[in-house]
Amino acid sequence: MPKMNFIDADGNNKEVDAPLGLSVLEIAHKNKIDLEGACEGSLACSTCHVIVEENFFDQLEEASEDEEDMLDLAFGLTHTSRLGCQIIITEEMDGLTVKLPAATRNMMVDV
Ligand code: FES
Repeated sequence: MPKMNFIDADGNNKEVDAPLGLSVLEIAHKNKIDLEGACEGSLACSTCHVIVEENFFDQLEEASEDEEDMLDLAFGLTHTSRLGCQIIITEEMDGLTVKLPAATRNMMVDV
């Protein structure tokens, strides 16, 4: 089974199983990774925002216009940002590494 890595905002790496056909968001939830996903994958939020490692980013299918629109609202957007619910695991993605952005949650605390 493919594996993938989540790097949290503090830089800690967690390797987890990445079953084919599951989204990064679903895998995060299975493994109690702190990725929100408020709309459960219906492209109506940006809380599942992850930053994809450069070499995997190029292998992903391009983001749809709806995804781009949501990403524009994401906090801490980077040029390899994607929505976790839109990244589906394939064989080629074994070893995928994504970073969790420095939490939207903190933003609320700061206000
Ligand atoms: Fe809302 Fe991904 S969970 S867009």
